Amino acid sequence: MRQPALTSTSSFLALESHAADAKDWQLRQLFAADAQRFPKLTVDAAGLFLDYSKNRLDANTIGLLLDLARERGVERQRDAMLAGEKINLTEHRAVLHTALRMPRGKALTVDGQDIGRDVHAVLDHIKDFTDRVRSGAWLGYTGKPITDVVNIGIGGSDLGPKMAVLALRSYAHPRLKMHFVSNVDGHDMDAALAQVNPETTLFIVASKTFVTAETMLNAGTARSWFLQTAKEEDLARHFVAVSTNTAAVQAFGIDPANMFPFWDWVGGRYSVWSAIGLAVALAVGFGYFSDFLAGAHAMDEHFRTAPLEQNMPVLLAMIGFWNRQFLNAGSLSIAPYHQDLSRFPAYLQQLDMESNGKRVTRGGAEVDTPTCPVVWGECGTNAQHAYFQLLHQGTDVTPIDFIAALRATHDLAGHHDSLLANCFAQSEAFMTGKTAAEVRADLTAQKLSEAEIDELAPHKTFPGNRPSNTILMDQLTPSTLGALIALYEHKTFVQGVIWDVNSFDQWGVELGKVLAKNIHAELTGDIKPERHDSSTNGLIIMAKAAQHI
Ligand code: F6P
Repeated sequence: MRQPALTSTSSFLALESHAADAKDWQLRQLFAADAQRFPKLTVDAAGLFLDYSKNRLDANTIGLLLDLARERGVERQRDAMLAGEKINLTEHRAVLHTALRMPRGKALTVDGQDIGRDVHAVLDHIKDFTDRVRSGAWLGYTGKPITDVVNIGIGGSDLGPKMAVLALRSYAHPRLKMHFVSNVDGHDMDAALAQVNPETTLFIVASKTFVTAETMLNAGTARSWFLQTAKEEDLARHFVAVSTNTAAVQAFGIDPANMFPFWDWVGGRYSVWSAIGLAVALAVGFGYFSDFLAGAHAMDEHFRTAPLEQNMPVLLAMIGFWNRQFLNAGSLSIAPYHQDLSRFPAYLQQLDMESNGKRVTRGGAEVDTPTCPVVWGECGTNAQHAYFQLLHQGTDVTPIDFIAALRATHDLAGHHDSLLANCFAQSEAFMTGKTAAEVRADLTAQKLSEAEIDELAPHKTFPGNRPSNTILMDQLTPSTLGALIALYEHKTFVQGVIWDVNSFDQWGVELGKVLAKNIHAELTGDIKPERHDSSTNGLIIMAKAAQHI
């Protein structure tokens, strides 16, 4: 159904006028005016807790944001997605990553096929295979158990498994060392191969399409490296594939018995739940992988059934929309206060920006508001000692999502309290800031002269009033990690509905692929680089000259 332009909807207009009233709101005052702000502006779901009280809004704002969500058809479109309607219009595909985490026995028919059964047949294959590798029953070509797994993939076929394997480090098998090679830059593969032995290494070639240039080049390099010591017939014990493209997998020389399929209704950046998660299942075992799926499913059920007022993904999405639209926040910083979530910001970059980094609506018109902010981030406390300066005192307002676990998964004394203290102190500081009067009082107490105070006070003043969310979980477990990822997936979906963009295609990535192919031909062949601009021609000539030294 065609959506009217966002800015013409009555709920947007109501929000816009509310935003004009709320323009000068100060978070300090909002907290001072309502002792119940924290319980009112927090929500629990699927083992996660979201505190959104440190945003520049009130219950009335939330009501207006949810009116907009309703007017844009969030509930209707959510149900359409979950039912398998082909909501990915430009690729004529259903969007059913949620089906990958449905419990066994739940049927869902797409194009006449019970995909619930297909999903669980692949999960059974994953269980059988991962059990054998983990137990040591699966042997390499010289009769030794597998010690190293190299996942070769890029984008969604790398970021998800890599992020999850790191996040679930404390659940991992002690014998299996996991490696991830994604970059076409040979330094990536070179570094991985330097650490592994062909006799005990398993390569997973992970590619939805099995045509992605980077992955195909890396897989070919790994294969040649392996065949330096082993024979063709040994490949079957050391190379498996995860893909939707059986013919290409076979053409590459991987036995279809060693192929773990998935389906075109799984987007690359939503694929960690599919066989693309094979590296995760190998690392943590099928039991924990099932918990990971179950955690995500719990969030799916919450998203499907909770009223919008208590619906965590909807609230996170609408607050993000408020900040983007009315605070002009062009970026969103993700600050996991958990070292094991070190790749989570990178994972979210693809999820959010490849999904909603769009400027036309599903009907092909220009979107009439800003869309997806730039997503970036780094673990706290490291981030504090790097770029938090800008977040505190820079000229832009950057909302932050703090993510933390109340309990650690290690038992080192003294660390976790210190970590949480920093996390909570930062969100408090972003909110309250420090006024010039407070700074002057501090400096006076330190017995500085008036002149010194005049000089220092502007530098030590913090504007505050900077919005943040805090997402807490008891511990980072397979289940809470699953819920956390699903939370952001659904948040992304909801924002896509509000902006009326297709969150499930990625045409913007295609151009780069074509251009790189052309330049590759010029770099490696006799074609003279003269059809580009002078900069591009010049760079190609320099690279060609360097390679001939
Ligand atoms: O080029 C972008 C992209 O298509 C991503 O969406 C995807 O996750 C990645 O490339 C890898 O694709 P594939 O799994 O087909 O190799």
